[in-house]
Amino acid sequence: MAGTGTAHLRESDDVLVRVENMVVEFPISGGTVHAVSGISFDLVEGETLGIVGESGCGKSTTARATIQLPKPTSGSVHFHGDDITTLSGDRLRKVRPQLQMIFQDPISSLNPRRTVREIIGEGLKVWGENDSWSLDTIDLLMESVGIDPRYGERKPHQFSGGQCQRISIARALVLDPKVIICDEPVSALDVSVQAQILNLLEDMKARYGVSLMFISHDLSVVKNISDRVMVMYMGKTCEVAGADDLFDRPTHHYTRALMAAIPGADVNVDEQVLEGELPSAIDPPSGCRFNTRCPAATDECRTDEPQLREVALGHFVACHHPVTS
Ligand SMILES: Nc1ncnc2c1ncn2[C@@H]1O[C@H](COP(=O)(O)OP(=O)(O)OP(=O)(O)O)[C@@H](O)[C@H]1O
Ligand code: SF4
Ligand SMILES: [Mg+2]
Repeated sequence: MAGTGTAHLRESDDVLVRVENMVVEFPISGGTVHAVSGISFDLVEGETLGIVGESGCGKSTTARATIQLPKPTSGSVHFHGDDITTLSGDRLRKVRPQLQMIFQDPISSLNPRRTVREIIGEGLKVWGENDSWSLDTIDLLMESVGIDPRYGERKPHQFSGGQCQRISIARALVLDPKVIICDEPVSALDVSVQAQILNLLEDMKARYGVSLMFISHDLSVVKNISDRVMVMYMGKTCEVAGADDLFDRPTHHYTRALMAAIPGADVNVDEQVLEGELPSAIDPPSGCRFNTRCPAATDECRTDEPQLREVALGHFVACHHPVTS
């Protein structure tokens, strides 16, 4: 989109997370921030969904509202078939361990006063031990994420950024989650370390059977780790497709502009790299929200919001004038 619709949602018994028409608004003095404006997506078991878009498009808000922190303004979030937007108190608490998040800045997301072993084990004290992990097996988990258990009594500042992200991953895994939402997990790391953390996430996904939502502003990072990719612009969905398909046939003008911006990318797009800032999320453009920056915008784009529609098998785009050839 920058449009709307649910045509891309799948009807399958394997669907673990199904977010439908999610809206998240923040009232502020002088208006309302339209952070997420009718986003829909799903995640099947064992899948990695990449979510990509430039800064401020609503990726983190989408992630947080999916785990109900904050609860969306409207829309539904089904997890294992239950709408968790309707849950509160103990019933919501029971779901929380299964939906974990890791964040961009690994060092500041870890409690500086706790040892690494305490940080990783803390969730077990809060939520209780589970079938996979106990306080006695934390060393095994440390080993599996590549942290030497002999360093378990050290504090976060004694580790590098990459090692802290390994610790964050262990802290999430210890709760035996079904889904880990990774919000820009490598953006703060050196390029040489980024690949190691991406490989670790893939290993952990295969070994422990978690599904991943992987958020990044960088399409090239999302490409290799994702099975499916959703491109967002100003709180809306532009395009959803299998990762290879999206890269082989980018169809939305915004996706194509993002691709044109990848240094050295071997992609066949004639779009210019995007210029200019995002319009204000307090007063978003009417019609297609991308119309103020799109080279192909027409009058229709300024008045009518495009709906997601399937342009090839499993490939959905919300654009009045998609590039389909
Ligand atoms: N608590 C809040 N109160 C008011 N506005 C907010 C709040 N949280 C986010 N926003 C606004 O919502 C919009 C989406 O923000 P969000 O952080 O979700 O974007 P993002 O895609 O994650 O960006 P980035 O790539 O910079 O992390 C932005 O306009 C942001 O300023
Ligand atoms: S052609 Fe129109 S609908 Fe498509 S991306 Fe551009 S402004 Fe949006
Ligand atoms: Mg963010």
